[in-house]
Amino acid sequence: MKDRAFVPTMGALHAGHLSLIELAKSYSDEVVLSIFVNPLQFENKEDLAKYPRDLDADKKLAMSAGAMQIWAPTVDEIYPDEPSIISAGKLGSKYEGVNRAGHFDGVLTVVDRLFKHVQPTYAVFGEKDFQQLFLIKQWVQENKVPVQIISAPLIRDQDGLALSSRNIRLGDEGRKSALVISQALLAARESRDPHSTMLEVLASEPGFKLDYAIVIDEESFEEASASTLNTRALIAGWVNGVRLLDNMQMSVVA
Ligand code: PAJ
Repeated sequence: MKDRAFVPTMGALHAGHLSLIELAKSYSDEVVLSIFVNPLQFENKEDLAKYPRDLDADKKLAMSAGAMQIWAPTVDEIYPDEPSIISAGKLGSKYEGVNRAGHFDGVLTVVDRLFKHVQPTYAVFGEKDFQQLFLIKQWVQENKVPVQIISAPLIRDQDGLALSSRNIRLGDEGRKSALVISQALLAARESRDPHSTMLEVLASEPGFKLDYAIVIDEESFEEASASTLNTRALIAGWVNGVRLLDNMQMSVVA
């Protein structure tokens, strides 16, 4: 069978998503992009209803970036029956999972269903959602899922803000405040004590409300220690009621 590269999304496409299509194209001539707002990964009905949907615009963007097939299934197509839920384990209820019970279970469950429909050789996921990428890689490895997971680098706007469909809700002032996140990560990368440096820089911006700032071991997702070789800093927080997420590699030895 021919190779196929798959880019799963929930739509509201921006340049971050398009970079995933570009990367997918370097693996296979046949790139499939899915657009499915997965009810299982929203713990809040209002959030699900508010999720931006513009299928026509998304289709045009995805085609222009080189996706060959755009697949936008209905909820019934993906969940014709009550799905058996795949557990994301302990890490699934930490960090991004703390206030969103079942979120990562919902992500793994839909990724499993999408993979079964598309049967890809490769699937591309962004480092923007580093915990999601980690949990998907772990699930694939532990269950011998026959798909090769490709990590795509996080794409930023020129001013450093990580691209997200939520950024439009920030407003001009909010956007300025939000820049503290990438500034904190850059400062941490230059520091001997990245964790303290991040906290210091973040605290200097009154418009930013911290959720968590951590430095982890990329291999295990445990908090990094002095002997950790490959570390990554992750920040989550709020600006103007908008939840923002960012991360950056700190040190790489291997
Ligand atoms: P969604 O939020 O639409 O994101 C789709 C993919 O785009 C994810 O792999 C995400 O990490 C990536 N992405 C988003 N912003 C990015 C950026 N600035 N740079 C690089 N990649 C970026 O993540 C999901 O959908 C869903 O959970 C999904 C995996 C589709 C399962 O429903």
